[in-house]
Amino acid sequence: MDSGSPDVFDPADRLTCLRAGDAAGPVMPPVVQASLFRFDSLEALFAAQAREHEVSVYSRGTNPTVRELEQVIARLERAEAAKCFGSGMGAIAATLFALLEAGDHVLFCGDIYGPTIELAERLAGFGVGHSRCFATDIDSIEQAITPTTRLIYCESPGSMRFELLPLHEIAAFARARGIFAVIDNTVATPLLQKPLELGFDLSLHSCTKYIGGHSDTLGGTVAGSNELVERIFRRGYMLLGAAMAPHDAWLHLRGLMTLPQRLAQQQADAMEIAQHLASHPKVRRVFHPALADGVQAKLFARQMRGHSGLFSVEFDLPDHASTIAVANRLQLFGKAISWGGVESLVTSPWRRDPGDAEELRMPRTMLRFSIGLEGRDALIADLGQAMA
Ligand SMILES: Cc1ncc(COP(=O)(O)O)c(C=O)c1O
Repeated sequence: MDSGSPDVFDPADRLTCLRAGDAAGPVMPPVVQASLFRFDSLEALFAAQAREHEVSVYSRGTNPTVRELEQVIARLERAEAAKCFGSGMGAIAATLFALLEAGDHVLFCGDIYGPTIELAERLAGFGVGHSRCFATDIDSIEQAITPTTRLIYCESPGSMRFELLPLHEIAAFARARGIFAVIDNTVATPLLQKPLELGFDLSLHSCTKYIGGHSDTLGGTVAGSNELVERIFRRGYMLLGAAMAPHDAWLHLRGLMTLPQRLAQQQADAMEIAQHLASHPKVRRVFHPALADGVQAKLFARQMRGHSGLFSVEFDLPDHASTIAVANRLQLFGKAISWGGVESLVTSPWRRDPGDAEELRMPRTMLRFSIGLEGRDALIADLGQAMA
């Protein structure tokens, strides 16, 4: 697959990102900076409250600017509905809070974003158990299910090793047993993977990454059926209060307008840089789903339209300290967490040398790169001088 081809995206998604064909009026929606909305009578107010997930009553529930973004995300995710949150963690917390009860178990599959696991550890105090399955084959995942498993939570690709899970099989297995199938789809973006079409119940994103795309705002979203999104709205969104602010929704709508172009450039440059590094003598391994072989390559072809601008590298260096030194010598890569903006970033999965025992899945000489828009030649030259 030529992951750099602009045709990699569904043409309908390009129009959705631009909101092409919208009714006459301003090209950008107004930022409705209001916390509450007036009604003609108390009867009208009470009627609106019964439909608060779609009618603006109070902006901790529904706000017109945020709703505009929710409708765009729902279309991109092929979902009936979406809800937007103040951050990705807000969306994850509300989803788990709304769907789980004491006595339930969650199975986490793949490399899961650290704070999501920390949240699950907190939920243990409220009677919700969890376990993890790192294997990527469906047999191991099936064996990891317990009689009380209520929800399977996946990350595919994961955000460090970029391994893929068999999403179709997981969704079918979960559906047959009445288990919720939920995925954090942030790495793939709504353009490159459509989990609901693969049978997942809910697809979550940190909009802070590629959707906002400019490292200037936080946001999160969850997309799925009307029934599930309304349930999350009533039991998670309204009660936990991680509402998205109207101006943030406006920034995300603006970010989405150029998502296909940014992503096309970033994925093409990332692919070229990853391929260049794969043949470098100081590189042991590159983690990039389009460069994987065997089952992983088949999954990539089957469930993704391409990969984004992220990859990791295991260097052939003696230790953690010399790997950190390579990162520090980079001039065009910001040393920062997060990713998905227009600036290139580098980080390490390890804050300190993990030691042999801990270094199981994440090599100590590993760095993760998020490719921005500086151009592949300049970034390759920068990597060359840092690795010299
Ligand atoms: C894969 C993934 N999911 C969720 C999140 C959480 O998103 P936020 O920082 O917007 O709360 C992050 C943040 O880095 C992430 O990398």
